[in-house]
Amino acid sequence: MKQEIRFRLNSQDVTMSVEPNLTLLDMLREELQMTSAKRSCEQGECGACTVIMDGITVNACLVLAISVDGAHIETIESLGATTLHPLQVHFKDLAASQCGFCTPGMILSAKALLDRNTDPTEEDVKEGLAGNMCRCTGYVKPVQAVLAAAKDLREQAKQGWERSHEFR
Ligand code: FES
Ligand code: FES
Repeated sequence: MKQEIRFRLNSQDVTMSVEPNLTLLDMLREELQMTSAKRSCEQGECGACTVIMDGITVNACLVLAISVDGAHIETIESLGATTLHPLQVHFKDLAASQCGFCTPGMILSAKALLDRNTDPTEEDVKEGLAGNMCRCTGYVKPVQAVLAAAKDLREQAKQGWERSHEFR
């Protein structure tokens, strides 16, 4: 029997009626036509379906839709609506994406990392991306892109802090 769930999806409130066995991935792709989370292994192995749930990355293929009741889900559509996020800028500029199949998940894993660690080491970034497989670009450029984005975000935060203290 269907159950009603309410959650936030990229800062918008959503109410849905879902079957108890529907996965978050199927809900996003089939019910909400939000196809940025990709379907590949469906076994939690590849990370193509990565989304952020309450600040933590999850494999949407392994999460039941009913369990997102009350949660905040972020997909890649939450980034770059007006201006590109630094992660998107550096993935583009460094050619860290080729076919792009893994890219939404990889960028979301990177975002979750940078949200909790503004100054990651290369090892931190490798660990943060460890659950995201890429079959064509490899990992050197994505790691470089995440480190460059982290630097930009720190610079933006510093400039914002300086601006907010200019007239005190
Ligand atoms: S499709 Fe979910 S981890 Fe591969
Ligand atoms: S860019 Fe093609 S799988 Fe990663």
